[in-house]
Amino acid sequence: MSHVITINADVSHGTINRNIYGHFSEHLGRCIYEGIWVGEDSKIPNTEGIRNDVLEALKKLKIPVLRWPGGCFADEYHWKDGIGPLENRKRMINTHWGGVVENNHFGTHEFMRLCELLECEPYISGNVGSGTVQEMSEWVEYMTFDGVSPMAEWRKENGREKPWKLKYFGVGNENWGCGGNMRPEYYADLYRQYQTYVRNYGENKVYKIACGPNVDDYRWMETVMREAHPFMNAISLHYYTIPGEFWTGKGPATGFTEQEWFTTMKKALHMDELITRHSAIMDQYDPNKRIGLIVDEWGTWYDVEPGTNPGFLYQQNTIRDALVAGLTLNIFHEHNDRVVMANIAQIVNVLQSVILTEGEKMLLTPTYHVFNMYKVHQDAERLDAHISGSEYEMDGEKIPQVSVSASKDAEGKIHVSLCNVSHDSQADVSVALRGLGGPISKIKAEQLAADSLDAHNTFEEPDALTPSTFSAYEVEEGVLHAKLAPMSVTVFEITAG
Ligand code: AHR
Repeated sequence: MSHVITINADVSHGTINRNIYGHFSEHLGRCIYEGIWVGEDSKIPNTEGIRNDVLEALKKLKIPVLRWPGGCFADEYHWKDGIGPLENRKRMINTHWGGVVENNHFGTHEFMRLCELLECEPYISGNVGSGTVQEMSEWVEYMTFDGVSPMAEWRKENGREKPWKLKYFGVGNENWGCGGNMRPEYYADLYRQYQTYVRNYGENKVYKIACGPNVDDYRWMETVMREAHPFMNAISLHYYTIPGEFWTGKGPATGFTEQEWFTTMKKALHMDELITRHSAIMDQYDPNKRIGLIVDEWGTWYDVEPGTNPGFLYQQNTIRDALVAGLTLNIFHEHNDRVVMANIAQIVNVLQSVILTEGEKMLLTPTYHVFNMYKVHQDAERLDAHISGSEYEMDGEKIPQVSVSASKDAEGKIHVSLCNVSHDSQADVSVALRGLGGPISKIKAEQLAADSLDAHNTFEEPDALTPSTFSAYEVEEGVLHAKLAPMSVTVFEITAG
């Protein structure tokens, strides 16, 4: 199957915001506890309670931003329960996720320390569903006020003299559902009220994020934008790729059929239509694109692994997830004029994770490898790229077989990421590189590919699926010809001159 790609290296479509490579961590299942936080007394090597293996692996990804504490958990979270000496912290029920005991050992100080260690920006989701305006306002004061005030004094008593820098703050999560089952008119009014008291202290300027729609709820987007757009910096969108049906069977993470593979790819591509249509609504109220769209929950969602707690949302991660990650990141790049951040759900042990843990063991998933290969696009200039070629067809339905995105980094290196979503056909691509300003002097490439639909890493074989150097290409008269394996994600690095 052949595909013709043209990349105009001298035509830029603006910067790919590095925050598109953001992550999400919720008090859900084994994400925070076990996955990130093991406590200082654990035999698992840790830094102030945060496990070192996970920390090191995440540092390599250059995570730009991390969202916390939820998710649905956010609108039940009362931040004052999670500060002060660990032994005094309240134990509560995590009613949303498995009904387990939440001991609040991982709270504001621990999260901010995690972000410091990862050198990423914190993104905090505040509680609108069951919290008060005062509680939200005081949280921001606690974290960011550098002066004399009850909250600042309390922070100091708890061991943190200087305030933290906090930019990203979400005013509620999924308030159309688990965050209060609100109507958009009601939420829009609450948003206006709550955000008023999210104050900027000193140099700290909070970037306020309104709760946006679920999937294709265009009425929610329209209403919240109409009623509240002057008061927000961004609005969120949530969309998960679910091969089956949410309530009746999402489908397994492994051991699925070719049809389920195809449906997963098709549903992942739906992100493009959602962003396009939501952006069109935003354009009516914000034609200059001051307001960002933040896809702060995305990823695959399958049935939980057999034998695990259904409330923990633990799932394996295969080459199929790698393709969903590559396709979705390419889509986000394409919408870099509006999409300013995205947060894959969730970072460790929940849904489409980059890391899975089991006791002391840890593995990097195929999704991790895609994020690692793609990190070269962070803050790079998106280049003009066009593709035409054959489609991937199953049972009369068709989707594009190859997805492409290209960018130029600060050093002038060009990176081209290509996904071949076909489960059985190689893709022969010819990439015409125009406007390079000189001959190609160096090319290197990496590919993540597999020969079974559900190839994945296990704790016994953690490196069963890792990227390798890719060499099935040649350059002829400035055109790069490559043979992309079925089910593969490939990233080229091209240096010219
Ligand atoms: O990521 C799991 C859950 O999905 C989040 O808590 C919620 O916001 C969404 O429905």
